[in-house]
Amino acid sequence: MTLLPLQAHHDQAQETLPPEVYEYYASGAGAELTLQEQEQAWARFRLRPRVLRDVSTVDLTTTLLGTPFSSPVAVAPAAFQQLAHPDGELAVARAARATGSLYVCSTRASRPLEDVAAAADGPWWFQVYNMRDRDLTAALVRRAAAAGARALVVTGDTPVVGIKRRVSGTRISVPDDSYLVNLERHLAGLPATAARAAAEQDPSATVDVVGWLREISDLPVLVKGVLRGDEAVRCLDAGAAGVVVSNHGGRQLDRAVPSALALAEVVRAVDGRGPVLVDGGVRSGLDCLVALALGAAAVLVGRPVVWGLAADGATGAAAALTALTDDLAHVMALTGAASLAELDPSLVVPPATGW
Ligand code: FNR
Repeated sequence: MTLLPLQAHHDQAQETLPPEVYEYYASGAGAELTLQEQEQAWARFRLRPRVLRDVSTVDLTTTLLGTPFSSPVAVAPAAFQQLAHPDGELAVARAARATGSLYVCSTRASRPLEDVAAAADGPWWFQVYNMRDRDLTAALVRRAAAAGARALVVTGDTPVVGIKRRVSGTRISVPDDSYLVNLERHLAGLPATAARAAAEQDPSATVDVVGWLREISDLPVLVKGVLRGDEAVRCLDAGAAGVVVSNHGGRQLDRAVPSALALAEVVRAVDGRGPVLVDGGVRSGLDCLVALALGAAAVLVGRPVVWGLAADGATGAAAALTALTDDLAHVMALTGAASLAELDPSLVVPPATGW
């Protein structure tokens, strides 16, 4: 199911990263049922290809919130990338630029936002954790906007942080220079422990955060972590420009439904009011194809990019994105689709049991 370069990156990362860092990236919450089922869920769909279409060139270009991209394969926000490689977020932003992909930078970036923006040197979005210290959140969002972020992605599935049992014995302690690099200037000399407490996710946040973020940034806001049609509609009604179907890569609520099985319901409920992106367990062009045919505007990948980064910096991260994009073009040709506009739900047979 996994593409060869992705598997090779993973194996290399597993061999070379300190074990606690590898486990931090690889792990999921609880018994890791969602983590395991997530990858398999994409493979439960079957395809109904068209034949004798001109697929001599396959066009993967797309537009997200008015911005053109070379491919619908995008980089999911992932925290503390400096633990995987000294260049961290800078390398991943460069990889996204090289491949013409959307880059989403995490609130927990371990390199200064302005440097990440310079490395991205093009369109990028900023992922927001609504932190206990609202002023801190606002300061970070305003900096992201000033540095050129074109949209905000507020993560809704993390009111509290999921417990990853696999790493509890070897819990990584993220060094202060990685954790606080973007925060400390706003915290006026607070000691590190108090600074980290201020930066925790605020469990009292509600959907009103969407309007607040729009107000302070003047940017479109997407909500990430949506797994139900009715919740997607609630987010849109609160002013969201779109949603990301996601269970945080199986790292938050274990036994949450795999993204692949939630996507169609969300697309139906959103009914064209905004883009629906998806992530979780996407490891091949076929996975991307199913997602796009079901109506996703783009597919984000988390761990494969991190493994590429760990294996070979910006080159490795770009190789992961290229492998997925090339594989997507290949299977689109086999499906008889020459552009993303030719992908639709009629190409896909959902799993017989629904879930
Ligand atoms: C994440 N993810 C994540 N999401 C988010 O909104 N903010 C964040 O800071 C992080 N950090 C993070 C760290 C690590 C190590 C991982 C693996 C994931 C979740 C991420 O954006 C995405 O939803 C999943 O990673 C997608 O699943 P795959 O592609 O990793 O299977």
